[in-house]
Amino acid sequence: MTKPLDGKTALVTGGGGPAMGSAHCLALAAKGAHVIVQDMREDHAAAVVTDIHAHGGSAEPMAGDITELDPFLVSLNEVISSTGGIDILVNHAGISGLSTPLADIDQDFFDRMMNVHVKGSFFITQAVVPEMKAKGYGKIINIASEFCLYGSPLASHYTAAKSALLGLTKSWARELASFGIRVNAVAPSLMESELTRASVGGALLKDQGKAAPFGRLAVPDDIAGVVAFLAGPESDFISGQTISPNGGNTIVGI
Ligand SMILES: NC(=O)c1ccc[n+]([C@@H]2O[C@H](COP(=O)([O-])OP(=O)(O)OC[C@H]3O[C@@H](n4cnc5c(N)ncnc54)[C@H](O)[C@@H]3O)[C@@H](O)[C@H]2O)c1
Repeated sequence: MTKPLDGKTALVTGGGGPAMGSAHCLALAAKGAHVIVQDMREDHAAAVVTDIHAHGGSAEPMAGDITELDPFLVSLNEVISSTGGIDILVNHAGISGLSTPLADIDQDFFDRMMNVHVKGSFFITQAVVPEMKAKGYGKIINIASEFCLYGSPLASHYTAAKSALLGLTKSWARELASFGIRVNAVAPSLMESELTRASVGGALLKDQGKAAPFGRLAVPDDIAGVVAFLAGPESDFISGQTISPNGGNTIVGI
């Protein structure tokens, strides 16, 4: 049986993540893509590759820290050559900046936030686009945050970095449309993950879940389905958009 992403190669940065990263990889592989599971934690990337293989999918790991751009881009160019080019890029790797008031954000923390979310995504995208242009087709999906829609009182550096991704999404969508490249952003709501357990804390996460319209926080598959949709041909007429799977949070203004 043919699948919509048969013959396509997808790269997911931070794809070894136990929350959304691995869910995106599994969802793309289930639709037929060969998935490059990228993560600075090699053991996590390898575990996701094993899981994809166990489900009958195709995947390979890619190590590296996306903020160490020079060596990272050397490895990326090797992957681009060996696979024949990346058709689907998910700029997903991220760090948490939650629970940090303005007064406590120093220059180093600010730079780290920008380096991983903005600079890393920018130059990885720059590296994969020539092959997409040559093929006349590509999908780029930037993982932002619902904080971009209404701000965050304790993560202004994180929200600034994620909001920059929305600007890049719209600019790249316009610049690359004539080459058949679609660029969209996904702005998920809060979920329980390593990042949020460490920064927000379990009790607050529980309270947020109870207060949400559906009475729960997001789970990774809520978001991975949207990413898989944006990666596939069903969304070919969508570009420059931000889709926020947030369980209706913005309706009630949480
Ligand atoms: N968890 C949430 O509530 C939430 C909500 C909205 C948006 N997001 C965003 O979604 C993304 C992932 O969040 P998650 O909680 O699902 O985490 P996750 O479980 O997918 O883990 C993220 C992965 O990114 C990897 N990573 C981090 N920095 C890296 C780097 N420099 N180079 C390579 N890999 C790196 C980590 O090793 C980790 O495995 C982030 O961009 C985050 O900002 C998270």
